[in-house]
Amino acid sequence: MGPFDARAEPGWVETGVARAVRTWTVPAKYRQMRNPVACDAVALAAAREHWADHCAVCHGNNGSGQTMFGRGMYPKPPDMRTDQTRTQSDGELYSTIKYGVRLTGMPAFGEPGDHDHSSWALVCLIRHLPEMTPDEELAMRAMNPKTEADREEERQEEEFLNGGTPPATATPVHRH
Ligand code: HEC
Repeated sequence: MGPFDARAEPGWVETGVARAVRTWTVPAKYRQMRNPVACDAVALAAAREHWADHCAVCHGNNGSGQTMFGRGMYPKPPDMRTDQTRTQSDGELYSTIKYGVRLTGMPAFGEPGDHDHSSWALVCLIRHLPEMTPDEELAMRAMNPKTEADREEERQEEEFLNGGTPPATATPVHRH
C-alpha cells in the first residue's frame, strides 16, 4: 500500500510535512530534554485537572482529538494515543505545550522558563493516555469547563438516576 493509496486520509501529505517541519524546528536543546518530573500519582492527578480544564476542549479527555472543536480544525488535533505522538521525545512534547504550534490551532501554554513543572506533568499525562482508565476519564469529565446547558443536563440525569421524574428530553413517546 503506497503513500498515494486512495484510502489515505486527504491532507496526510500536508500534515506529514507540517509535522516533519515542526520536528526540525524544535530546538535541539528541547529535543534532548528528559522529563524532570516524576510521573507519579500526584503529578498525574494535577495534570488530569489541568488537561481537563485547558486541553480537553480540543484534545478530548482521552487524547483522541474527537471533540466538537477538534473535528472542525485543520490541521486537527492528532490522536495522542498513537505512535506519532508516543515516539516523540519528552522535550518535543514539552516544547509543543510551551510554545504551541505555529499556523495551527495549538496555542502556547505554560510559564516562562525551562522548568515549568505543570507542562512537564502534562507530558507525564500524554505518556499515560493509552492506559487511561474509565474512572480517570469520569473524574476528568467533572473538571471539564461546563456550559449552563451541560449543568442542566447533568442535574436532570442525576435526578433521574435518583428515582426522580425522567428528564423532559426523554419523555416516552405516546403509543397508539
Ligand atoms: C484550541 C484547541 C487546542 C487546545 C485548547 C490545545 N491544543 Fe494541543 N493541539 C491542537 C492542534 C490543532 C494540534 C495539532 C497541531 C499540528 O497539527 O501540528 C495540537 C497538538 C498538540 C500536541 C502535539 C501532538 C503531536 O502528536 O504532535 C501536543 C503535545 C499538544 N497539542 C498538547 C496540548 C496540551 C497539553 C494542551 C493543554 C494545556 C493543548 N494541547 C491544548 C489544538 C489544541
